[in-house]
Amino acid sequence: MIKKILGKIGRAVVTTDDFTIPAHDSPLFAEINWKKLPRHVAIIMDGNGRWAQGQGAMRTVGHTAGVKTLKNILKTAIGLKLDALTVYAFSTENWKRPHTEVEFLMNLFSEYLKKELQEMHEDNVRIHFIGRIEGLPASLQKQMREAEELMQDNTGVKFNVAVNYGGQDELVRSVQSIVRRVQAGELAAEQIDETVIESALDTQGNLPVDLVIRTSGDQRLSNFLLWQAAYAEFWFTDTNWPDFTPECFVEAMVDYAGRDRRFGGLTKPEEK
Ligand code: FPP
Repeated sequence: MIKKILGKIGRAVVTTDDFTIPAHDSPLFAEINWKKLPRHVAIIMDGNGRWAQGQGAMRTVGHTAGVKTLKNILKTAIGLKLDALTVYAFSTENWKRPHTEVEFLMNLFSEYLKKELQEMHEDNVRIHFIGRIEGLPASLQKQMREAEELMQDNTGVKFNVAVNYGGQDELVRSVQSIVRRVQAGELAAEQIDETVIESALDTQGNLPVDLVIRTSGDQRLSNFLLWQAAYAEFWFTDTNWPDFTPECFVEAMVDYAGRDRRFGGLTKPEEK
């Protein structure tokens, strides 16, 4: 069945040019204020379909092009020594798309893992998948678990890939797990606080999101990291994801460095 569909819409072949991790003194980073970088950046990689349609190609061509962008942005994040990069690859709502596109994306994720796994491992990346993973094809789940196990001791960028992810769904699952702990007598209701909730989320162990980037013009959160982005800054660009370059990413970092983050107070935390 999958073969038949891929025959019709083109195989999800992942090809990427060589983009190496930019060094600290790379001209790409000339404008960077290293003391004011976000630690955790989240990206809504939007506009693959529009990019492809703008070239008279099928939407799936845009998703394949988006893989190359993702690879380059991950390498840039490594060069910037970010603590975490979280990307929205497939939402709980994306199942509403045509069956052929969903099948294509699942195959694309699998191809990406096959092709990029070793290099990510060598780059000391620690991959983690967030979302309702059990709702994905069994073979993809297996690949995801194997990738996580391979990289679990890596100490570089935490690379969280959201697949079958929805922020509300994540909160529902975390409430369920906390209620189970209360029912088992491990926890009293009064002990539930922000720390307990955070440690029940898919992103447990990560810092809060500092910056959310969304490509392709829309300015909304689309059910992404609802809890984690509570105090995040936002950066929007009209550029479609396949055209989003390391330079665009650095532009967002530079803009972020100029922001005054008060976290509801009057002074910046470092000035307290
Ligand atoms: C949004 O563009 C993009 C997606 C739903 C898929 C994201 C997937 C990739 C970037 C491929 C690489 C990812 C991994 C993890 C290998 P859209 O289709 O909604 O574009 P549109 O808004 O123009 O229709």
